Amino acid sequence: MRDTIFTRKPEFEILPMTADDCAAVSQLHGQRFARPWNDGEFLSLLLQPNSYGFVARQTNALIFKPPLSGFVLAREVAGEAEILTIAVHDKVGRAGLGWRLMQAAMREAHARGGEAMFLEVDDGNAAAIGLYRKLGFEKAGERPAYYADNQGRKSAALVMKRVLR
Ligand SMILES: CC(C)(COP(=O)(O)OP(=O)(O)OC[C@H]1O[C@@H](n2cnc3c(N)ncnc32)[C@H](O)[C@@H]1OP(=O)(O)O)[C@@H](O)C(=O)NCCC(=O)NCCS
Repeated sequence: MRDTIFTRKPEFEILPMTADDCAAVSQLHGQRFARPWNDGEFLSLLLQPNSYGFVARQTNALIFKPPLSGFVLAREVAGEAEILTIAVHDKVGRAGLGWRLMQAAMREAHARGGEAMFLEVDDGNAAAIGLYRKLGFEKAGERPAYYADNQGRKSAALVMKRVLR
């Protein structure tokens, strides 16, 4: 079948996050999380010496430039790396972008001397837990009643860990 704008499979590039990305990153974060972080918060996190991030952009859009497709923000300090936040646009979910962003974050952490990576995830977030398990993360601890949703309902945070090699 001929490739048209309606059938074309989106393709993405993963690039280091820069200060110029923070407004778009904050916008996507606000779409995917109940408690949004503003662009100033992203900028100050990104500018910390141990922090880094990646963004995913579609490379084969024909007519209009789609919004940012995903991002990850992480840091590495003294051998321990941490995912601060990650999100993928819901229009391109389950296309392997979360996996690619996590791989980029893990590779960069390892290059900076990271020996292990940690993250926290709501124990009800099946998509994220599925992604992290597929990447080899395992439960390392639990923080009961750590998150609260807009109605004040509490849920636990799982702490997950993966050795980097
Ligand atoms: C979690 C998130 C980043 C996953 O991104 P994604 O690009 O859709 O994930 P991928 O396509 O790379 O999926 C990789 C694996 O994760 C798991 N996964 C992803 N989405 C899933 C879903 N909805 N349900 C169950 N497992 C899922 C699967 O194991 C999947 O592998 P498979 O497709 O071969 O079965 C995305 O759902 C998101 O942005 N969620 C909102 C923000 C969020 O919760 N961030 C994490 C906070 S800790």
